[in-house]
Amino acid sequence: MKGIILSGGSGTRLSPLTKVTSKQLLPLYNKPMIFYPLETLLKAGIKEILIIVAPERAGDYLRLLGSGREFGAKFTYEIQDKPEGLAQAFIIAQNFIDEDNVCMILGDNIFEEDFSDSIKNFKSGGKVFAVKVPDPERSGVVVFDENMKATQIVEKPKTFISDYAIPGLYIYDNRVVEVAKQVKPSARGELEITDLHNWYLQKGELEVEILKGEWIDAGTFESLFKATELARKKALQK
Ligand code: TTP
Repeated sequence: MKGIILSGGSGTRLSPLTKVTSKQLLPLYNKPMIFYPLETLLKAGIKEILIIVAPERAGDYLRLLGSGREFGAKFTYEIQDKPEGLAQAFIIAQNFIDEDNVCMILGDNIFEEDFSDSIKNFKSGGKVFAVKVPDPERSGVVVFDENMKATQIVEKPKTFISDYAIPGLYIYDNRVVEVAKQVKPSARGELEITDLHNWYLQKGELEVEILKGEWIDAGTFESLFKATELARKKALQK
């Protein structure tokens, strides 16, 4: 299993903080934000990690994370020239993924969960997670039937369909690269990750597991504050 941390984007909702640095390098209590998704991958046993960054901040990431040796891993870097969507990461990562399966985490997503078993037990298809949230309109959302079988996945629904959001950690088999190449840009001009989920869902090959631990997408001031509190809790637990 290879790992990707998607750490580009514009971070406009956190401006002016993101005028001087990338969102995923902002501090969460005692560490830069990206350390948390990085630790999530490392804890799950992933050792080969591609870090995808925006061109303006590439040097900062290299300085901070280097070769990966310090973390017992091997880091590779790619530039995403423009933030053209989460699914584009798999096209950028084609050579890195090669013949392997892949787990992608977003650089601003903080998880309490240990994903080791999900990673170790993954064989093929796609696997995503679901979390009940008060603000599902911010995320990709999954609808379940009465047997808790996923039936539909919609990106940022404007009207309420479900309060289960899909957090930013996705596991796919190798086919994801070719599927991503077929995705057409959405109305907002992005290659949407929901199109990848739906490709696997329609084939009956998408597993959706309810997440037990806390999850925070640190993209707004309010959630950045909550993420700092979770980071402090994690640090004091150690
Ligand atoms: P978002 O929070 O949706 O977007 P953003 O980071 O650009 O922020 P804003 O909406 O405030 O402008 O992105 C989720 C994560 O994915 C975040 O870590 C940035 C990353 N990302 C990319 O690296 N490339 C992309 O093309 C997109 C859309 C997001």
